[in-house]
Amino acid sequence: MSRIPFRLNGVEIDVDADPDSMLLGLLRGRLGMTGAHFGCGANECGACNVIVGDRAVAACDTPLWSVADKDIITIEGLGSAQNPHPLQRAFIAEQALQCGYCVSGILMSAAALLLRNPKPSSADVKAALDRNLCRCGSHNRMVRAVLRAASEMAAQ
Ligand code: FES
Ligand code: FES
Repeated sequence: MSRIPFRLNGVEIDVDADPDSMLLGLLRGRLGMTGAHFGCGANECGACNVIVGDRAVAACDTPLWSVADKDIITIEGLGSAQNPHPLQRAFIAEQALQCGYCVSGILMSAAALLLRNPKPSSADVKAALDRNLCRCGSHNRMVRAVLRAASEMAAQ
């Protein structure tokens, strides 16, 4: 066990944990952040994506040692029912989800893209979401929603 400090949704955290254990288990278990979902457990579906720095990463394949002193944002830190992020508003407006299981990971991939590239093209959005699987087939609506959010954010 080691002490591992990081910032989670802007709050300083210091956990005593196995540095080789994966971030997803810590988030969903001890820290109660259940918005990052377990899908494949093998860095292949994107359901568990969170933002570390300005990149979306698969929390199921991110060892704790690698996030020491980093900024982590989960879906819980993106927006809330009372104060949704523009991406969340746009996903609702475009009806860009069906079962919703993949959506928190997709929103985190999209949010990381907008951090690095506030005016993405459709091709940029498709590339950013390329590793996120959606079994419900909502991809086209999701791309439209991300472009809608980007243009809303640019107008603010
Ligand atoms: S559960 Fe992490 S990528 Fe699928
Ligand atoms: S909305 Fe159901 S898996 Fe994507």
